[in-house]
Amino acid sequence: MTTKMTTKTNERERSREWYDRAQQSLIEGVNSPSRGAAVYSPGPVVLERGRGSRVWDLDGNEYVDFMMSFGALIQGHAHPKIVEVVSQTMAGGSHFAAATPAEAEAAERFQRMVPTAEAVRFTNSGTEATMLALRLARAHTGRTKFLKFEGHYHGWYDAYCLNGNSHPADQLGPRENPTRFPDSEGIPASVFDDVVLAPWNDLEALESILRQHGPELAAVITEPIMANMGCILPRDGYLQKVCDLAHQFGALFILDEVVTGFRYAPGGCQQRYGLKPDLSTFGKALGAGFPVGAVAGPRAILDRMRWGSGMVLHYGTFNGHRLTMSVIAVNLDLLSANDGAVYKQIYGIGDAAVAGLRDVFRRRKIDAVVQGFGPMFQIYFTGRDAIRDYRDYCQYADTSKYSRFIHRLLDRGIYMTPSNGLHWIISTAHTMQDVETLLVAADEVCAEMA
Ligand SMILES: Cc1ncc(COP(=O)(O)O)c(C=O)c1O
Repeated sequence: MTTKMTTKTNERERSREWYDRAQQSLIEGVNSPSRGAAVYSPGPVVLERGRGSRVWDLDGNEYVDFMMSFGALIQGHAHPKIVEVVSQTMAGGSHFAAATPAEAEAAERFQRMVPTAEAVRFTNSGTEATMLALRLARAHTGRTKFLKFEGHYHGWYDAYCLNGNSHPADQLGPRENPTRFPDSEGIPASVFDDVVLAPWNDLEALESILRQHGPELAAVITEPIMANMGCILPRDGYLQKVCDLAHQFGALFILDEVVTGFRYAPGGCQQRYGLKPDLSTFGKALGAGFPVGAVAGPRAILDRMRWGSGMVLHYGTFNGHRLTMSVIAVNLDLLSANDGAVYKQIYGIGDAAVAGLRDVFRRRKIDAVVQGFGPMFQIYFTGRDAIRDYRDYCQYADTSKYSRFIHRLLDRGIYMTPSNGLHWIISTAHTMQDVETLLVAADEVCAEMA
């Protein structure tokens, strides 16, 4: 590593002014609590533009972006091929809400990359995709309840809003019967009567819970890698066993690949871990920065959306949005070119960042672990050797220290959300130079913190 110092960013006066102004018209000055003062102190860095791996704020400060729009920007900012297809498509009309070649062209590429996609249905967000997957699973099995895991986030749909945030460790209840914490007001309590909750990465607890509730379940839904408590990997063979157990009780296995899809492999984590989910959901990287989601699976299930009696309803003015579909086609072509060579590049850069950060923490004698690999990882300030599930996260991850660490990195030109529940993202636009910039900045911050 070089010893070059980073330059401190300028005061963010214009960011502050703009944030004050935005609060007059928007709740918390933003459109999601994960972007405002709940996370950034005293307020967010207000961004003006992006290119490649970089973003610039209103005060002209430049940052290497490791958040990448919560992972949506797999090709970085303003990729020339995406800019080109957007302007070409737009010139012919943004969207018709009618049949277009663009939607079939996107779907064909999707099918080629995702092994379990006999068919695909596009939605406008990951939340819409997981909502639809649950409706399909309920229709297919004739059952109502489903199982979700503590600390997993599947979007903000009512039924999924249970134990998605962290809570004091001493309030979590027994593993076989976790305490239930709704994530939102305004959801009827009866909605949660249909949700069975289980701890993740714990087969014993899952088996015990399934013995009690398994026969009533339409589905078991899981993220393959926990991406909303940072980055927590599944134990060896765990996901296959969850799939087998779900099937043993007649429930569908839904793999929520909204974060991992098109990121960990051309065919997502299902390809990487050799899984065959009954349904899988996608979003983020699929749209390379454009709002989209998708449900993929066998015809036997997706055909339930065909018009007729007993159909599963899925409408949406913007479904199969022409502009987005044209972006998807280009994005998936870029990702699958040369046998997916770009994944090797992303893995190389991500693995170097992970190894480099571990080295910085070791040298600076800071208790921290870096979890994940390749395209996605997270740092936890903890004296433990790993964070293995939601309960570990609630008990052992020092999320305030993480927030302080990120705020100091922001002052040194590294853009990342201070929320420990999210994760660092490597896009095709990142370079080894970006990793070096990160490591120099992290080293300086660690020196201060130590
Ligand atoms: C695993 C997972 N599923 C679903 C969603 C919801 O996706 P969206 O934000 O596009 O609605 C998210 C969003 O972060 C997610 O992480």
